[in-house]
Amino acid sequence: MPKCELHLHLEGTLEPELKLALAQRNGVDIGQSSVEEVRATYVFDSLASFLGVYYPAMDVLVTEEDFHDLALAYLRKAASQNVRHAEMFFDPQVHVGRGVAFETVVRGYHRAVVEAHAELGISSALILCFVRDLPVASAEETLRAALPFRDLIVGVGLDSDERGNPPAKFAAVFAAAREAGFRVTMHCDIDQEDTVEHLRQALEDLGTERLDHGTNVVEDPRLLALVRERGIGLTCCPVSNSFVTDDSKAPVIAELLRSGVKVTVNSDDPAYFGGYVNENARALAEAADLTPDELVQLQRNAFEIAWIGDAQREELLAELDAYAALSVPPTA
Ligand code: ADE
Ligand code: ZN
Repeated sequence: MPKCELHLHLEGTLEPELKLALAQRNGVDIGQSSVEEVRATYVFDSLASFLGVYYPAMDVLVTEEDFHDLALAYLRKAASQNVRHAEMFFDPQVHVGRGVAFETVVRGYHRAVVEAHAELGISSALILCFVRDLPVASAEETLRAALPFRDLIVGVGLDSDERGNPPAKFAAVFAAAREAGFRVTMHCDIDQEDTVEHLRQALEDLGTERLDHGTNVVEDPRLLALVRERGIGLTCCPVSNSFVTDDSKAPVIAELLRSGVKVTVNSDDPAYFGGYVNENARALAEAADLTPDELVQLQRNAFEIAWIGDAQREELLAELDAYAALSVPPTA
């Protein structure tokens, strides 16, 4: 099935093999010397404990080549699963905070975008995420750094630790980003403290175009109606959910899908959670008894809410329709 990925953190695609290779290439001591040892550190049971493993791992990313290699490895994997378009988050503040130039990060990632398109026909775009547990001034500085690269970055998002870091904290920087022409999305992670208020701010005050996760919106009928009315997409990640909370939230994802909300299925941080798009679609299908038509609908939703031009959207939807018309039952 032709697929579309809209919730993917490039730094979350750092597989143990590549982490080890980059550590060796850059002479960074990560404290482990085998793939098994690195894999054994990928252990967590909450968003905060996940982030505690995730951020230090980024120390191995130093040169433009490193960022390029990371993104190209992901795009090759995605293309092997017939992902036709991917929109990929990245966290520049974490790299800049380690002394890596903003430009090094963006140029490396962008080079992979260009090469993957030429090599594999997969299209992709970059979404700059503000790290919500860093100060607002840092987000503002990051937006300023991004302006000269406006053509290489399709939109802005908001990620990292949501606790005590509501969307409202970033209202001004999101307004400035929108003014500069960036598309807008943001994480409202699963089962967070004050989740309904965060969702309200994201939707009503910051005017987000998509919600990354966002399934707690079922707790507020008024906000749910708003999501439906505006055609706001939800980028769900069932395998990730089962790591950072106590379940995959498959029933609520399926309920939203069946009620016509533009739900999509994505992989979040596949190197850490052990599932790319296919594994996420399969996990959701099994947990919620999705029909073949519902699996197609997840991808239709994704192509509909993707930040691409109308011609590309029509082309991708036509590919999906052609797939759906085949008599064989669809599989992820
Ligand atoms: N950064 C990487 N993955 C994330 C997630 N699932 N939630 C918030 N921030 C993240
Ligand atoms: Zn995420």
